[in-house]
Order: sequence, then C-alpha cells, then structure tokens
Amino acid sequence: MSDSPRGWGVTPSTDIPTVAFGNQKGGTGKTTATINSAAALASRGHDVLAIDMDPQADMTKGLGLGPGDDNDASNPKNDLPNELVTDDGNLLDVLVDNPRTHDTALSEIVIHTDEYEHLNYDLVPSHKDMGLARDWMDDASARLSLKVALEELIDEGYDYDFILIDCPPDLSVLTDAAFIAAQNVFLAAQTQATSRDALDDLWDQLESIENSQQIEIAIIGLLANMYRDDGQSKKFLNAFDESFASMAPIFKLPMRVAIQRAWDNGCDIFEWEDANDQQVERDLFLEIAETMERAFDKTQVKV
Ligand SMILES: Nc1ncnc2c1ncn2[C@@H]1O[C@H](COP(=O)(O)OP(=O)(O)OP(=O)(O)O)[C@@H](O)[C@H]1O
Ligand SMILES: [Mg+2]
Repeated sequence: MSDSPRGWGVTPSTDIPTVAFGNQKGGTGKTTATINSAAALASRGHDVLAIDMDPQADMTKGLGLGPGDDNDASNPKNDLPNELVTDDGNLLDVLVDNPRTHDTALSEIVIHTDEYEHLNYDLVPSHKDMGLARDWMDDASARLSLKVALEELIDEGYDYDFILIDCPPDLSVLTDAAFIAAQNVFLAAQTQATSRDALDDLWDQLESIENSQQIEIAIIGLLANMYRDDGQSKKFLNAFDESFASMAPIFKLPMRVAIQRAWDNGCDIFEWEDANDQQVERDLFLEIAETMERAFDKTQVKV
C-alpha cells in the first residue's frame, strides 16, 4: 500500500463527530461495524444517529426495518414496518432536489429510538429509491448534499453525540457524499490479498476528494474483519500494520457466528442473546466506541 502523509487525528467536519464506514470492496464488514459501533456508543450513554447510505439497505434490513422473513413467522423483523417502501419522503429526496417531495429535510425521515423496540439509536433508513442516486445526483452540489443536510439537522437543534454513516461498496457519488459529510473514515477490510488493491484505490479517491473540496479526511480506525489465526491472515495484518498503525488503531474481529445471527434477527450484538457468549464481540465494539470517544474528546456523557 502506498505511504500516506495522513496523521493520526480526527477532522471536525460538522459540530457533531461524524464517521463514515467505508471500503468499496463488498462484504468486508462495513455495515456490521456501523450497526455495532453505533450500538456500543449508545450502550455507553451516547445519543447516536446512524445513516444508511447504501441502496442495498443492509443496515436498515439488519435492524429489522426492511422486509420481514416469510420463512420464519417468529422472526422479530416481521413485526416491524418495511421502511424501504414508504411513500413518505426518503433519503434520496433529502439528497436531491426532487420536485415531487419539495425539499424533504433529514429530520423528517429520522426514525427515533423510542419508535421501535429493537432500535437502540436513531436511524435514517435507506429506501428503494436510493438505487436511482447515480441518475439524480450527477452534479458537483450532489456531493455536498449530505453535508448540507447534516448542517440543517444541527441547525434545527439535533445534538447527537455521534453520527455514523454506512457507505455502499463502491466509489459512487453516495460514497463521496458520505466522505465529504463525515471527513472521518473508519475502514472495514478483510485480511486478504485483494484488500490491498482496494485500499490503494480508496486512498486515491480520498486524495482526489481532498483536493477537489479543499478539505482533509482522517482515517480513524480499521476493522480487520473475519480475521483467522493463520499465516495468510497474519501476513495481511502485518501489511495493514505497516500502512495504518502510525495513523489509526486496528481492531481484529474473527469470524463469529453471533454476528450473523444477530443480523438475521434484526438486532445489534448488544441486544442479541443466544446460548453462546457474545462478550467477545461486545468487548471489541466497546473498545471501538471508547477509541472514538477519546479521538473526538467525547468521554463525558450528556445527562
Ligand atoms: N466477523 C464476522 N463474523 C461472522 N459474520 C460476519 C462478520 N462480519 C460480517 N459478517 C457477515 O458477513 C456479511 C457481510 O458483512 P457486512 O454486510 O457487514 O459487509 P459490508 O462490507 O457492509 O457488505 P457490502 O459491501 O455488501 O455493503 C453479513 O452477512 C455479516 O453478518
Ligand atoms: Mg454494507
């Protein structure tokens, strides 16, 4: 991986610490990291907003607010509405100037923690219309749209402690909008050969955004996900160490069945209970939460 001049630190993009979970490579654990880091911060007393920028809507589905499960009548997801098909304003309406919905504000589409039993933090869900983003968000202002929407939300008096954004697995306008809004990126990558090229491409993209927008973007952490205790994983963990350790902490998460089960049941790992112990996973995400608190100087919880 190329050397980077990036230093260890965070960027104050808006008044609220904001982090985008990214990697254009698919299936690396971005959504898992977003869902569970948000839950860990919430369990430590913080007010958190999570935003699902991915047209695949995995975070929305993973928290139970997508389609239910026809094969399992007892699945908690079946009790919740499918936010992906709502006729009300949606995230695409917020990001584009859509004449049909007349400037929907982000605050209008926030689902609040107390609305659904399984939600431990506020959520801006994705929507089936988000698949149209590439057609609608084709000018330079579109890349700034999430940042503008977040500033409006803050102006309206929302004072979350943290805002976490789940990015799609691409380097599209949606990902750019998330990176520009957050200016802090948490990477999720697997310890395997193909990750290196993906991270090099991501690096180039971040530099191009920094140059075009005249902003700085900080890397604030890396999840080395589905880590196995074998030579191959260790080799690529060493490569991550060489490229990132001076810049941001690296967290190792092995393959854990509870992560998948929690997801299948529309829960985060702090809510999910089964016969196995979930403490390993919880501890890891609590460590990530504590690191974010320290990085953004947010160790004091609001009362
Ligand atoms: N450490 C883990 N142990 C077990 N399963 C995991 C782990 N991390 C992620 N998964 C599972 O792997 C799948 C992919 O993870 P996830 O959706 O978080 O990746 P992603 O990077 O968001 O994917 P995409 O690029 O499609 O958005 C999910 O089903 C998730 O539950
Ligand atoms: Mg995802």
